[in-house]
Amino acid sequence: MTGRIPKDFIDQLLTRINIVDVIQARIPLKKAGREYMACCPFHGEKTPSFTVSPTKQFYHCFGCGVHGSAISFLMEYEHLEYTEAIEALARILGIEVPRENDAKSMPSARKAKLTDLYSLLGEAAKLYVHCLTQAPEAQAYLQKRGLSAEVIKQYGLGFSPDDWHTTSRQFAAHYEQEQLLASGLQLKNEAGKIYDRFRGRLMFPIRNRKGQVIGFGGRILGSGAPKYLNSPETEVFHKGSELYGLFEARQQTRHLERLLVVEGYMDVIALAQFGISYAVATLGTATTQQHINLLFRQVPEVIFCFDGDRAGKEAAWRALETTLPELRDGREVRFLFLPSGEDPDTQVRKVGCATFEESLAKAVPLSKFFILGLKEELGFKAESTLHVSEDSALFANEAKRLLDLMPDILIKQPLMQEIQRLSGLVLGQEAHLTEETQNPRQYHSKFKGKYAEREPQGVRAKTAKDFEVRKTPVRYAITLLVHSPELVTEIEHPEKLLDWGLPGLDLLVKLVATIEELPEMHAAALLERFRDTPHEKTLLKLMLWQPQSNDEALLRREFQDCLQRMKIQATDKAVERLVAKDQTQGLSEQEKHDLFSLLNERRTK
Ligand code: UTP
Ligand code: MN
Repeated sequence: MTGRIPKDFIDQLLTRINIVDVIQARIPLKKAGREYMACCPFHGEKTPSFTVSPTKQFYHCFGCGVHGSAISFLMEYEHLEYTEAIEALARILGIEVPRENDAKSMPSARKAKLTDLYSLLGEAAKLYVHCLTQAPEAQAYLQKRGLSAEVIKQYGLGFSPDDWHTTSRQFAAHYEQEQLLASGLQLKNEAGKIYDRFRGRLMFPIRNRKGQVIGFGGRILGSGAPKYLNSPETEVFHKGSELYGLFEARQQTRHLERLLVVEGYMDVIALAQFGISYAVATLGTATTQQHINLLFRQVPEVIFCFDGDRAGKEAAWRALETTLPELRDGREVRFLFLPSGEDPDTQVRKVGCATFEESLAKAVPLSKFFILGLKEELGFKAESTLHVSEDSALFANEAKRLLDLMPDILIKQPLMQEIQRLSGLVLGQEAHLTEETQNPRQYHSKFKGKYAEREPQGVRAKTAKDFEVRKTPVRYAITLLVHSPELVTEIEHPEKLLDWGLPGLDLLVKLVATIEELPEMHAAALLERFRDTPHEKTLLKLMLWQPQSNDEALLRREFQDCLQRMKIQATDKAVERLVAKDQTQGLSEQEKHDLFSLLNERRTK
């Protein structure tokens, strides 16, 4: 079923489900005070640092930093997609998941059309398989490439005859013209003539996770350009989020342990023929964040395989950068560089399965490639330490930019130390880790209700070099609200908040509106509301800043104090602006009046 799941259904679902039950059904939890504890299922550990909060309906591991709602837990633990996780939770409650589009914008005619698109593409795949049996030149080509009959069948290879109208002849009676164009099988030129996209090509059907054909890659027999033609983006085919061979790999191995990411169709197939049935390929595009997420939802270990030449290294470096934000403790990423001029297809044929797998075992770990690649990027020799200070600064800056992309996981600290060693720069000034990232537990207890004394006054410019997210009153107010949504009643005029013009207020205002809409929402449900929005990361971070004190009166006082400080900051800002204007352009009567009352207001505080 397609169509968006209504937000309020997800809210309701999360307020009805109990995360403790969901997790307890999978790993044993021990009660510890208000919370539950366990050894973290997402990284190896002997002493428990995985906590589940029944009040916030949230889990968090102090060891590896994973955290989230019941939905996130199922996604991580059971490798489910977002909607699959919601469906699983709905099943526990015995309710149906509604879809926004079902009743409204998705008329059944359109749904039927999508179904038709899948069946059309599926039939086309069958047609091409049939055509292959009638095409000796294509069979000869496959033989020349050394593909076995088995693997040809497993991957459903076919052939599109060298003819402009194969698909029309075959499908016009059962499908509308519009459908044939929407499937990507046909094209219309400027003169309005319609013809087949794939002609005289070896056909590789691309399947989605359910095994439905969603598009094709077509290779020319022999040489010529373009070597490969791919289906265009269609309603059912999105290159950036599909991996060629994933369906087949899952078919082959029920429980995949790792995935090898290669560049070509032929690579996936040759590896499979030689017994390496866990290779997938991106579809002629660079690796996207969606690909990475999809990969890690299947397996904890991903190996990227690239050609050892310059282009390969560059592609690998781009893959590394895309991967950094998705790293977690327990997720392993490595890079395999093949000898220059080889691809996995030629290499596995040359050295065989066992040697190829041995080289996999020796693939470069991400942290090592991080340093090596960084040096190479900046034109340093891999072995040398850095001497010239500009070089060091350049290196440290670029390293810091990349480290900033990573969540706070175990390898981050040693990486940082290595960068300090190499650059001779103490990142403490250049880029220093917050106390929080170094020791979350200690940080949290230090933070207990000490906000008022610790908070520096005035606005400190946040530079790019600043690792730390500063605890401004706005941010702390957000933290407190997520922790205790009932504090929302302390805000007298929520509609005026935005007028204060402070950074971060837009999130605070959205949060306030969400809480007012559904007061019984707990922290995790609030967080779900911001999934896949630019605010999600900030909110997560702020949620972990929560004060450990549960004293309601204290929290209320702190929240009031935040509001007060925000007001002062806002007043200061307004005063500054008016004073500056007075000095440059002069003020209108109204503005003079405003300034006067602002100054007055400030005096009375
Ligand atoms: P390669 O050129 O490395 O092809 O492109 P290959 O997989 O080794 O194929 P053979 O061995 O020459 O038959 C890698 C991938 O890049 C995309 C395809 O997905 C291909 O599998 N590609 C390449 C295109 O989309 N179009 C092209 O013209 C070339
Ligand atoms: Mn090749």
